[in-house]
Amino acid sequence: MNPARARSGHVSDNGRMTSPDVQDTAGAPEPPAAGAAGAAVLRPRLPSPLLEAGDERFARHGVRLLLKRDDLIHPELVGNKWRKLTPNLEAAAGRTVVTFGGAYSNHLRATAAAGRLLGIPTLGVVRGQELAERPLNPSLARCAADGMRLRFVDRRTYRAKAEPETLAGILRAVDAEDAYVVPEGGSNSPAVRGCQELGRELGDAADVVAVACGTGGTLAGLAAGLAPGRRALGIPVLKGGFLDADVLALQRAAFGARRGLWSLDDRFHFGGYARTTPELDAFAEDFEDRHGLPVERLYVAKMLYGLVALAEEGAFPHGTTVAAVITAAPLP
Ligand SMILES: Cc1ncc(COP(=O)(O)O)c(C=O)c1O
Repeated sequence: MNPARARSGHVSDNGRMTSPDVQDTAGAPEPPAAGAAGAAVLRPRLPSPLLEAGDERFARHGVRLLLKRDDLIHPELVGNKWRKLTPNLEAAAGRTVVTFGGAYSNHLRATAAAGRLLGIPTLGVVRGQELAERPLNPSLARCAADGMRLRFVDRRTYRAKAEPETLAGILRAVDAEDAYVVPEGGSNSPAVRGCQELGRELGDAADVVAVACGTGGTLAGLAAGLAPGRRALGIPVLKGGFLDADVLALQRAAFGARRGLWSLDDRFHFGGYARTTPELDAFAEDFEDRHGLPVERLYVAKMLYGLVALAEEGAFPHGTTVAAVITAAPLP
């Protein structure tokens, strides 16, 4: 990436089953007493900036490309993490927040950071009991340093975590029966409503707004917030083709019905979650050089690749303005 070669111009800037596997964090920093209602004290950059990106692969089809820089919202609660987590931490109203993830989960890291920043106790349920015997990897070490208590569970229990009895067992074992539970990936109704704000910020600035999808919560909210007639386009980074039903279920839970115009294009997962190819890496490096934008590889690169491919296929009529939501920055 070479920021000096940036060609973007500014448009707007208004933007625990048995106890030995519980790893209580010793020596973690004392969280501030601010409480979740004070998310604003963290000074998020909201609305996030919307930048024009001159890109001939779009321009030659008469298409304008904008970058919605959600990666700039907050240095620690980046992108959709801010939008999904802060409404949940507020809903927790001071209770311990329990959530779930794999050993390298960005969602766990973000929840731990949010807990530290907002003075909310957090507990992460981690897939893989065998990990309890090993030194923490850097991602989990970061969670622990942020004050998150870690609970390692076997894979069967982890898979069944959404079943009421299993969940109750997990919470009982960690003495957190009155905890506030956020699902894996952070997509629930408060999160979807938080992402609705992303759509509202964009309003009618773009005809089509593209976002990378994992659980679909960000897309569900985005589509609901856009101005009438504007379309949200989800690019799933997982293989499977199951996301239509999930996005619809998330919208029904959050809003009572389907909301807004949205669709999915399943062609750009590059083999599935966390998979990449030399072609995708080369694409991302080139995009960084063209636009001075650090491109996160697991989500953002796939979404941008999909958008360029669609532009080159002529999928966007002449005169279309397309916005790409930059939901993350690469890890340092
Ligand atoms: C950087 C990034 N972009 C997009 C997404 C997709 O979000 P969702 O799970 O709401 O579809 C995620 C998942 O958390 C993410 O980390």
